[in-house]
Amino acid sequence: MKAFVVDRYQRHAALRLADMPTPELREDEVLVEVHAAGVNLLDAKIRSGEFKLILPYRLPLVLGHDVAGVVVKVGMRVRQFKVGDEVYARADDFRIGTFAEFVPVKEASLALKPKNLTMEEAASIPLVGLTAWQALVERVDLNRGQKVFIQAGSGGVGTFAIQLAKHLSATVATTASAINVALVKSLGADVVVDYKTQDFEDVLRDYDVVLNSQDGKTLEKSLRVLRRGGKLISISGPPDPQFGRQVAAPGFVRLVMRLLSSGVRRKARQSGVDYSFLFMRASGSQLREITGLIEAGAIRPVMDRVFPFSSTNEALAYVEAGRAKGKVVVRLK
Ligand SMILES: NC(=O)c1ccc[n+]([C@@H]2O[C@H](COP(=O)([O-])OP(=O)(O)OC[C@H]3O[C@@H](n4cnc5c(N)ncnc54)[C@H](OP(=O)(O)O)[C@@H]3O)[C@@H](O)[C@H]2O)c1
Repeated sequence: MKAFVVDRYQRHAALRLADMPTPELREDEVLVEVHAAGVNLLDAKIRSGEFKLILPYRLPLVLGHDVAGVVVKVGMRVRQFKVGDEVYARADDFRIGTFAEFVPVKEASLALKPKNLTMEEAASIPLVGLTAWQALVERVDLNRGQKVFIQAGSGGVGTFAIQLAKHLSATVATTASAINVALVKSLGADVVVDYKTQDFEDVLRDYDVVLNSQDGKTLEKSLRVLRRGGKLISISGPPDPQFGRQVAAPGFVRLVMRLLSSGVRRKARQSGVDYSFLFMRASGSQLREITGLIEAGAIRPVMDRVFPFSSTNEALAYVEAGRAKGKVVVRLK
């Protein structure tokens, strides 16, 4: 099968279009013919080697985490899916590879594609949708009347998280540049801070939850917009010791995580705030909840660009440039 692979970890290096063997299917997996693949910063970060310690992949590696497509084969123990089903998923860690004609996905990580979405739209959802779900629903159980600050509202995670938070009846603040204010308002944001001309710290007070996706300075400022007892969840690091335990990282990696996060954890304790790092995971059951919200019209995909499969490197570079409004997808079929 045709696939885009990483041969060695290197920043900004192009992926190589290669002929790779179709992955062998395990008993609990289905083989998905990829119709569209979502592009994420995680793909660029893995290609650059930033995740070497957390996700020690063997090279060459077929890249890509998000898929929408059609089931072409089912493993012996698979019960919920059959050949011909239209599905979508965030591929499993250590079984990624959606920038390819076929990808295996565990039955437990897969869901039927929302009926009202195209393949391209569906491929844009899983990784960012599950990230928002695992932060706002699973981790903080966001509810009516709470105030949440979602950074970078015009990005992949932001465009989904704003809609999810509004669905949960929270008050939503976000950061965006002037050109994206109308977009984030259309998604339901109540307070929009233009991060190029205003400091969110001067505008936001007593928030219950912050979803941090930016740099260390932003993380530190975020502590100061939370009320005592508030929750700071970061998806852009630093990883904390709890995460090290969750992924059963080796001792020295856990030590690195402890050290990297010691500053923010100490400051959070002093402010009476709970700090945690989140690294999202594949989940078919949560994806089914998301399908329900999309089919009910509560959440819609926000698409920036669709690239042909042959331009996967251009799609990755576009995402890496950091200006995407919503999601970027490559189309195979
Ligand atoms: N831990 C996890 O499980 C997990 C999961 C998903 C994502 N992430 C991480 O979360 C981060 C965001 O991911 P993403 O996919 O949402 O990124 P993205 O879609 O590439 O974000 C691009 C958007 O960010 C906006 N932006 C850039 N700098 C900003 C700033 N300083 N303040 C406010 N907005 C800003 C841009 O708007 P302008 O053009 O107007 O600047 C653009 O619309 C990345 O670091 C990603 O790796 C982590």
